[in-house]
Amino acid sequence: MTKTVSQQVSKSANQQIGEEANQRIGAVAALPSGFSEDQIAELIAAAVAVRERAYAPYSRFLVGAALRAADGTIFAGCNVENASYGLTICAERNAIAQAIAAGTRDFTAVAVVSENGVTPCGACRQVLVEFGPEMTVIVVDMRGRRRIYTLAELLLDAFGPKHLPGD
Ligand code: THU
Repeated sequence: MTKTVSQQVSKSANQQIGEEANQRIGAVAALPSGFSEDQIAELIAAAVAVRERAYAPYSRFLVGAALRAADGTIFAGCNVENASYGLTICAERNAIAQAIAAGTRDFTAVAVVSENGVTPCGACRQVLVEFGPEMTVIVVDMRGRRRIYTLAELLLDAFGPKHLPGD
């Protein structure tokens, strides 16, 4: 039986555990404490699966993102492009919107899957920081190679809700 790309990639992502698969900028350990390899593999698999639903006829660059909420629930989103190019929604912001609509606002990790394992764009970093300044960002390419960051290192000294006067 032929496996789907999603099955192949999530399997290979699961298998590539260890130093090589956990390339990380900086000197911090590969996986932050509080996450098991199974949880990370589950998150990556969700991002791989939703990536297949991406609507990207203009760039042909398919992206899938899966957020892990504080209670362990996973919310996934893909990029949605538009003939009026500037209206494109990135996978990460789509995933956030799905979660917010479901009543969840607190996240511990996001997995982002693309052909070449890109990090979230600047706009998405800002939107992610609103709901999880401490979150872990796992970027994965279609060969299953992953890199792990914290959102804080991707968006240093971020502007956020704490900078606005409370009521
Ligand atoms: N894109 C994402 O969905 N997330 C990223 O992190 C990078 C870029 C999308 C937007 C657009 O549909 C396509 O990738 C090319 O920029």
